Amino acid sequence: MYKKINNIIFDKKFKFLKKYLKKNIFTNIILLLDVNTKNKCLNLILKKINFLKNYKIIIIKSGEKYKNINTCIKIWEKLISFKIDKNSIIINIGGGVITDIGGFISSLFKRGIKFINIPTTLLGMIDASIGGKNGINFKNLKNEIGIIKNPILIIINYLFIKTLPKKEIFSGLGELLKYGLIFNKKYWYFLKKINFNNYNDINWNKIIYKAVFIKNKIVNKDPEEILGFRKILNFGHTIGHAIESFFLYKKKYISHGKSISLGMLCESWISKKINNLKNKEYIEIYNEIIKYYKIIKIKEKYFNKIINFIKNDKKNYNNNIYFCLLKKIGKCSFNKKVNKDLILMSLKNMNKIYYFKKKKKNDKR
Ligand SMILES: NC(=O)c1ccc[n+]([C@@H]2O[C@H](COP(=O)([O-])OP(=O)(O)OC[C@H]3O[C@@H](n4cnc5c(N)ncnc54)[C@H](O)[C@@H]3O)[C@@H](O)[C@H]2O)c1
Ligand SMILES: [Zn+2]
Repeated sequence: MYKKINNIIFDKKFKFLKKYLKKNIFTNIILLLDVNTKNKCLNLILKKINFLKNYKIIIIKSGEKYKNINTCIKIWEKLISFKIDKNSIIINIGGGVITDIGGFISSLFKRGIKFINIPTTLLGMIDASIGGKNGINFKNLKNEIGIIKNPILIIINYLFIKTLPKKEIFSGLGELLKYGLIFNKKYWYFLKKINFNNYNDINWNKIIYKAVFIKNKIVNKDPEEILGFRKILNFGHTIGHAIESFFLYKKKYISHGKSISLGMLCESWISKKINNLKNKEYIEIYNEIIKYYKIIKIKEKYFNKIINFIKNDKKNYNNNIYFCLLKKIGKCSFNKKVNKDLILMSLKNMNKIYYFKKKKKNDKR
């Protein structure tokens, strides 16, 4: 048997998927993959659904830089050349890039055809494939064009984690920590007991199931982000995205998980200053983050660049900058106005930690 949360199925052997595709007759089934998921994930799925004769495969290049309108055009052209009708279904097999772009092209093709997400990265399983947000980057702006539409099914199979490179594991880890901090204290303490540095020996079942449960619960309270509650998922992302964009601009790669973890560190510090987060909890968060991510320093001459990136954040309005801030571990507020000086102080604090850790390391030698 399989576990399920709404339309999210934990389907270790793809039995549910097989049954679903047998029961529902589609004119065509299109498998959308990137080069890596074609090599690492396709066979596992094909073995289970090889009874189908009417499937077609579309492969795109892998990486964030292909999450754009040109790739969409290429996919739509392929769908037209395959004569895909509205009674067909698209199965997105990949990380967040594939499920974001796959959900987007499916939602617009012939005013919308059905799609299934099969996430193959940790980030995809616990975050990107859930919640119905689909989209692409446009004019260097991340997820600027998009649509909210839910897949018919989300099929989660932990086996895909096995082929993931280390950096992809740590890219997803930041979001796991975030779920504990914003919504579920118990989950935070559950995660604290796990040493993710030994990620090969970890039993992922519980970790992923609980994370999916939390994300799904938050999204269901505010599916279209009308009440605002869903914004709490952005904790750590206001400064985190700015750090990610800044390093991209400097042509240095820093993973999403690391960027938002450093973002969470800065935003927890701000939470301590203006949202009553206790210092003891701030230190606890700090200690957990430095277990997995090296603190970086950003030269003060670049702080204005960071602020400019923050000003682009989708949560802002009326020229003010809004944050999601922690009240305590497990509870997060949203729409909190934060002034520029406090943001700069939080970045200075991160630099201070960087020098403190560097000094400690040198003292040991
Ligand atoms: N829609 C949402 O709510 C939401 C939420 C969070 C993130 N996102 C989006 O998700 C994207 C990031 O997702 P991601 O980190 O999964 O990136 P990704 O899709 O680029 O995958 C990361 C890398 O891993 C490879 N890969 C995928 N599965 C693999 C496997 N099983 N074994 C080996 N390699 C594998 C991919 O080819 C890629 O090179 C971003 O574009 C982000 O905007 C969307
Ligand atoms: Zn994120």
